[in-house]
Amino acid sequence: MSASKQTKARAAAQERSLDPVAQDPAKALLSRRVPAFGGGTRVPGDKSISHRALILGALAVGETTIEGLLESADVMATLAALRALGVDIEHADGLWRVFGAGVGGLGEAARALDLGNSGTGVRLLMGVAAQHPFTTFFTGDPSLCARPMARVIEPLEGMGASVVARSGGRLPLALRGPERLLPVSHRLAVPSAQVKSAILLAGLNAPGETSVIEATPTRDHTELMLRHFGALVGVEAVEGETRITLEGEAELKPQAVAVPGDVSSAAFPLAAALLVPDGDLTLENVGLNPRRSGLIETLGEMGAAIEVQNARSVGGEAVADLRVRSSALSGVEVPPERAPRMIDEYPVLAVLAACARGPTAMRGLAELRVKESDRLRAIAEGLSACGVALELAGDDLIVEGAGHPPKGGVTIESRFDHRIAMAFLTLGLVADEPVGVDDGSMIETSFPDFIELMNRLGADIGEG
Ligand code: S3P
Repeated sequence: MSASKQTKARAAAQERSLDPVAQDPAKALLSRRVPAFGGGTRVPGDKSISHRALILGALAVGETTIEGLLESADVMATLAALRALGVDIEHADGLWRVFGAGVGGLGEAARALDLGNSGTGVRLLMGVAAQHPFTTFFTGDPSLCARPMARVIEPLEGMGASVVARSGGRLPLALRGPERLLPVSHRLAVPSAQVKSAILLAGLNAPGETSVIEATPTRDHTELMLRHFGALVGVEAVEGETRITLEGEAELKPQAVAVPGDVSSAAFPLAAALLVPDGDLTLENVGLNPRRSGLIETLGEMGAAIEVQNARSVGGEAVADLRVRSSALSGVEVPPERAPRMIDEYPVLAVLAACARGPTAMRGLAELRVKESDRLRAIAEGLSACGVALELAGDDLIVEGAGHPPKGGVTIESRFDHRIAMAFLTLGLVADEPVGVDDGSMIETSFPDFIELMNRLGADIGEG
C-alpha cells in the first residue's frame, strides 16, 4: 500500500472508531409466527433504577452495593462516565460495588463523557456535573446528539451552571458548575422525569430547598431512591400539581440496592403471551411503580388476562409477579394524562392495538417524537407497512384493530431505536407472514438478551 493510501486507511479507521454507528454493524433480524408462548422467567433489571443506583451510589460517602443491575449498553455508559469522573466501581459475582465520593466530590474527567444512546444517562449526569465547578464534556451517538437538551440546560443555567452546546441545545456540549449553586423552584414545561431528576441531583449541592413542580406526575424513582439514601424529599399536591422539594447540601448514606425487573422490558414477552394463541407466561419480580404501570392498566381495560401476584415493596419500589394468558383484546381510549406513566410502552401497545378488535386512540403523544427516534412516525409507518389501518392526527395515534393479527411480510426500519425493533419483532410472532427489522443492534441498549429470552419462551426470532 502506498504511503498516501495508508494515511487514508488510517484516517478512515480512526473515523470509524469515533462513530458508534460504524462500530456496531447493522444486525437484520426476522421474527416468525409461533403457536405457543410461555413459561416462567425474570426480565432484566429496570433501566431507570439502574442508572439512578449507580449515580446515587457515586454521590454517597462509602460503599453502595447493587444487585440486579441492568448490564446493558445504556447503563454501562453511565457506569463508564462515573468512572471517568473518578468513582471506583467494582463487579464480582453479580454484585456491583460503588465507592461513592460524596455530593460535589467527583473529579474532572480527562475526556468527553460519551453516553452512547442514553438520554437518561446524559440528562441525569448533567445534573451531577452541575454540582462541580469544573467543565464536563458530554457527547453521544447520532440518535442522542439529535435529541433536545435545552429542557435540562435551561434550569441548570438558572442554578448557575454555564453551558455551551451545539445549535438547538444539542450534544456535544460542555457544562461547568458554578462555585456555589443556586436553589431553584422550577415548573416542568414538558412531563419529563429526566429533567426533574437533573434538577434534583444538582440541588443536592445547592443551599436551601430546590423544588420541581409537575402538572402531570412522571416516574418518581429519583425521589424514592434519594429518600432511600437519606436525603430529605417532600412531595405535596398543590392546586392539582405535584411539588417535589429537596433539602440541599445533603449527605447521602450508602445503601444496598436491589433493582427490580424492568416493566418496559417485560412489556414485550407480556405482549407476546397475550397475542400468541397458546400463551401462558409468568414474569417474576417486575417493578410496578404506579408511575410506570400505565400499560398494565390500559391492557386491563382492553380485556387482557393479567394477574398481579405477590405484590411487595423492595427499597421503596412496588414489585410483583405477573401471570399473563392469551386474551382477545378490544380497542380503548388511552387518555393523554396517562402518557408519562407508560411513555416507553406505546410502540408495543400500538402492536397490541393492531391485533385488538376496534379502534385504540392513544392521545397526547408529543413526547414520543423526541425519543430514541421519532416514535410516532416509526410506529405509524411500520404498522401501515404491515397492513394496519391507522390515523395520525396531531399528537394522537388511532390504530384500527382488525380483531386479528395483520399481514406482516415486510422489513421495518428500526431507526436506531431499540423499542421500535422489539415491538415489531413481537408483532412478527403473530403476523401472517414474518416481520423483519433492518437493524436490531440497538436492542442491547436496554435488553441485551431479548432474543434468547423470547426464544426460550417459544418465540422464533433469528437473523434476517
Ligand atoms: C426515563 C424517563 C423517560 C423515559 C426514559 C427513561 C428516566 O424519559 O422515556 O426511557 O429514567 O427518567 P423522559 O424523562 O424524557 O420522559
